[in-house]
Amino acid sequence: MLVKELLAELTERFERAGLDEARADARALTAFGISKTPVFLRMNPDFEVEPDQLKTINSYAERRLKREPVSKITQTRGFWRLDFKVTQDVLDPRPDSETLIEEALKIFRDKVASLKILDLGTGSGCLAQALLCEYVNARAIGLDCSAEALAVAAENAASNGLKDRFTTVQADWNAPDWEKKLGQFDLVVANPPYIAETERTALAPEVIEFDPPQALFAGDDGLDAYRRIAPALPRLLKKGGAFITEFGKGQEEDVCRLICSVGLRFGSFGVDLGGIVRCLSVFCAQ
Ligand SMILES: C[S@@+](CC[C@H](N)C(=O)[O-])C[C@H]1O[C@@H](n2cnc3c(N)ncnc32)[C@H](O)[C@@H]1O
Repeated sequence: MLVKELLAELTERFERAGLDEARADARALTAFGISKTPVFLRMNPDFEVEPDQLKTINSYAERRLKREPVSKITQTRGFWRLDFKVTQDVLDPRPDSETLIEEALKIFRDKVASLKILDLGTGSGCLAQALLCEYVNARAIGLDCSAEALAVAAENAASNGLKDRFTTVQADWNAPDWEKKLGQFDLVVANPPYIAETERTALAPEVIEFDPPQALFAGDDGLDAYRRIAPALPRLLKKGGAFITEFGKGQEEDVCRLICSVGLRFGSFGVDLGGIVRCLSVFCAQ
C-alpha cells in the first residue's frame, strides 16, 4: 500500500471517530510505524508501506481509536528544545507548561549562572531539563512521589545529555518536614496536580485514562498541592530566590493568595499561547 493511500484511509477513520487532529495523528503514527519523519511522508507520498509495517500501524491506529494519545503510543513528546520519553507513569508534557520556562528566562537573565533548581512533581523531568538546557551551568533536582516517574525522568536526563546535572529525589509533599533535607535553591518550579475531583467526569479520555491520577487531581477544589507546597517555600528558597508555579484556568487568584500568604513577594503572572493566565512567580525577600 502506498503511504498516501494509508494516510487517507487512517485520516478518514480518525475523522469518523471524532478525533480533533485526525490528519496530524494519522501522519504521526504512520511516520512512527515506518521509522521516518512526518516530513518524509510529505516528500514521498508514493513510498511503499510493507505488510508488516502496515500491521504495526494498524495496531497503533486501534490504540488511537481507543483514545490513547499519540505521544503515549510513540512514547515521545517534544517539550521546549528537547525530546522526552513519556509512559503511562508520567504526565504527557503540555505546551502550556513552556510558559514557566519563559518566565524563568525573564527572571534569570544570566544563562551561565550556576543556578540551583528544584522541580516539584517532576514527572518526565521536562521542566527541570528544559531549564538545564538553557542554563548551562545549572544543576537541578527533580522531586516526585512516584518512583516510576523518577525512573523515566532519569532516563530522559541521560538521553538529553543532562545526566551529570540532574538528580532525582523521591519525596511526598504530604509527609511532615518533606522539604527539610533538600537544601536551598535559586529557583523552584512546580507544575503540581491542580484538577478538582469534581471535574473528573469532564476530562477527555486521553487525559483521564492515560495520564496518571496522581498527576491530575488535588482535592475538592484542586488547590491541595499548593496548600502543602507553600509553607515549605521560605525554607527552600535562597534570599532573592524565585518560585514559579503553573495552575489551571481561573485559579490564579486562589493560588496567588495561598503562595503569598507565607511571606513571599508577588512577581508576575505568565500567560500561555492560548491567552490563559497559566503561571505566577514569587520571590523570597528575606
Ligand atoms: C501535573 S504532573 C507534572 C509533571 C511534569 N512536571 C510536567 O510539567 O509535565 C504532577 C507531578 O506531581 C507528582 N506528585 C503528585 N503528588 C505529589 C506529592 N504528594 N508529592 C510529590 N510529588 C507529587 C506526580 O507524580 C506528577 O509527576
